Amino acid sequence: MKGVILAGGSGTRLHPLTKVISKQLLPVYDKPMIYYPLTTLILAGVQEVLVITRPEDAQSFKALLGDGSDLGIAISYAEQEKPVGLAQAPLIAESFLNGEGFCLILGDNFLYGSGLGRKLQNLDAVQGATIFAYRVSDPTAYGVIELDSVGRPVSIEEKPKVPKSDLAIPGLYFFDKDIVEICRNLKPSPRGELEITDAIKEYMAQGKLSVEVLPLGTAWLDMGSFESLLEAGEFVHIVQSRQGILIGDPITAMRARNKSS
Ligand code: G1P
Repeated sequence: MKGVILAGGSGTRLHPLTKVISKQLLPVYDKPMIYYPLTTLILAGVQEVLVITRPEDAQSFKALLGDGSDLGIAISYAEQEKPVGLAQAPLIAESFLNGEGFCLILGDNFLYGSGLGRKLQNLDAVQGATIFAYRVSDPTAYGVIELDSVGRPVSIEEKPKVPKSDLAIPGLYFFDKDIVEICRNLKPSPRGELEITDAIKEYMAQGKLSVEVLPLGTAWLDMGSFESLLEAGEFVHIVQSRQGILIGDPITAMRARNKSS
């Protein structure tokens, strides 16, 4: 399966930290932020990764991650000239995708949980779109999904002031090949962005959207605010030092993947 990491954006919520360095290169305890979403893709079974960055950061990401050969995967790069929204990612990735479905992960999303890799591997070759839902105490900073009593999606809203549910949509999405056409037809939202939630709404309207509610024990953090950046670093530190393991480490993840296959 193919995977795309969107590591563009201006990271204004983290100024001045991100004034001269890309958000996704900031340290999260003992690793650069992008290691964590890259590890999620590796655990999901991805073989080919496209990293989308701002033009001015491309060289740093290439120096950090290289071509992926030390991990046994292929890593390539594309540039996002202007941050016009998440739904630009499938368009930038169009030639890389070459008509195939893929997994999109946002470069500031941290996911950790028992059995997560196996769950994600089963989503290979998905039909339509599969997204996740995660219960949070304050969903107003996220895409929010409302489900009916049998778990079918009913409504999706981006950063609603009055959320219809407490289920946030993490920045991890599985799309079939239709996503490129859907994103090509999107119009900017009131905040002027091409919203990935609008693309997901289109899948919902066509009855092609699956939603998996992440189990309570799973950790999901976006690392795009001072608090969540610190929390992610603390989480990594606590789990690693208590259990003597490395989390968010691509090489360790690849070893685990090779062992289980
Ligand atoms: C983006 C998406 C939002 C999603 C969030 C996850 O928001 O627009 O739907 O819930 O990522 O991290 P952003 O954090 O880019 O404002």
